[in-house]
Amino acid sequence: MIDWLRDAVFYEIYPQSFYDTNGDGIGDFKGILRKLDYIKSLGCNAIWLNPCFDSPFSDAGYDVRDYEKTAARYGTNEDLVQLFTEAHQKGIRIILDLVPGHTSEEHPWFKESGKAEKNKYSGRYIWTEHWMQPIPGHPYVAGNCDRDGTYYLNFFQCQPALNYGFLHPTESWQKPMDDPDCLATRDAIREVIRFWLSKGCDGFRVDMADSLVKEDDENKSGTCEVWRDILAPIRKEFPEAVFVSEWNRPEQSINSAGFDVDFYLDWPGNGYHALLRDTESGEDKSYFKKGPESDITRFLEEYLPRYTATKENGYIALITCNHDTPRPRRTLTPDELKIAYAMIFTLPGVPFLYYGDEIGMRYLDVPTKEGGYTRTGSRTPMQWDHTENCGFSKAKPEALYLPVDPDKKAPTVESEEKDADSLLNVVRRVLKFRESRKDFRSDVPLEILQGEKGKPFVYRRERMICMVNPSSKEETVELPELHGAAEQLIIGEIRMQEDKEKKKTKVLMHGGSFAILKVQ
Ligand code: NOJ
Repeated sequence: MIDWLRDAVFYEIYPQSFYDTNGDGIGDFKGILRKLDYIKSLGCNAIWLNPCFDSPFSDAGYDVRDYEKTAARYGTNEDLVQLFTEAHQKGIRIILDLVPGHTSEEHPWFKESGKAEKNKYSGRYIWTEHWMQPIPGHPYVAGNCDRDGTYYLNFFQCQPALNYGFLHPTESWQKPMDDPDCLATRDAIREVIRFWLSKGCDGFRVDMADSLVKEDDENKSGTCEVWRDILAPIRKEFPEAVFVSEWNRPEQSINSAGFDVDFYLDWPGNGYHALLRDTESGEDKSYFKKGPESDITRFLEEYLPRYTATKENGYIALITCNHDTPRPRRTLTPDELKIAYAMIFTLPGVPFLYYGDEIGMRYLDVPTKEGGYTRTGSRTPMQWDHTENCGFSKAKPEALYLPVDPDKKAPTVESEEKDADSLLNVVRRVLKFRESRKDFRSDVPLEILQGEKGKPFVYRRERMICMVNPSSKEETVELPELHGAAEQLIIGEIRMQEDKEKKKTKVLMHGGSFAILKVQ
């Protein structure tokens, strides 16, 4: 396991919306550079940067036109390299976003591939043999190029799927995984990885990492094989580089494909969804919504087997949110978020904080932008202060990439810095605490002390006992006598009582509280 991940806490930056230094209404690399000290002040020591490559931006940059050139709106390759260098000087690592499953339809590989004459790139994408030949059960495009065929899509219409082959080809146009064209795709992506790693980036978040091999790759054995092969030489050449998968099945991505970290993503009905966003029924049943009874089991039932199966090989990433997911502030109050983040930052694995979640930025109801649709509301500009455009940009408001939160009382970094008990300062407190105690390193084992419905969730990491009571009820936790246990970090209110007769320590937790106690 890669050593630096043991202490890593990531900050996800959507570059469009972070900080604009040249007044064009859109964030840029220089803006990130200026805010490195702020990121460090949070207790984050790594950054995941969403795609910042040349693109027509039909899917906010996940439609890459040139993997080796930055988008002009953010700055040049040199600016990005300068960002790597200065971040490293401050002890911050940066991972980029790798999009290996598809390119933009404007990528030169695709343009060549779509030509009628056979060429080097004819097999780089998945094409049928006739312009009328459908691809049953899959989105495909016909009639867009001179080539006599239809092509397979990986996501939006602008994103043709790169060809890594089929596990069990059944049609003459389906190539096996070891076809020279499919191996050439692997080589090409490996070269992109090398290109940026040799320029100083520290690894990649890998978009739709499970999507490479097509058809009946149900248990993803084909895709895992491709990843093992792509990564094998890279591991030797860049032993410190980390790979974080967008996969949401750590048993596959970590144990089989060889990723270092896998995201626990928000999928309706899953364990992570149950924590922060279980609102579909019309009633907010999320674990962190302050209600009469809390139920951690819906999370633990899914999380624990995943954690147990993968903990020797890699890490699960718990996230506050990401650019595809509604901000948690949409439904949870800042006080509820304090408890949520405290748990996310103290469970094993590598946590990810999405920009703006540290101040409780709201999910905004804004028109779609660059293929964002309902995701757009989580991508609005960072709220730095109460000057124009919340300090994000000097551009005219109508020239902004997206509007800033119009609410006069919208949270900002400036306002929350002044309040010792703000969400921002609680985030800092928890992350500083994590940073200064080896007990919370990503690989320190987790022991569940209490994980039942209707009771506070209690877990132990080495000498630290963490207790979570998101409910509105006062609850008592009984622990074996904790001689000399000291309160270390408290959110909300708790009281401790030693019951010498029963040899127990009783911890009275107010509704909406979180506590870390240290055992001698
Ligand atoms: C997942 C990314 O997170 C999302 O933003 C993007 O639209 C799709 N993959 C397609 O690349």
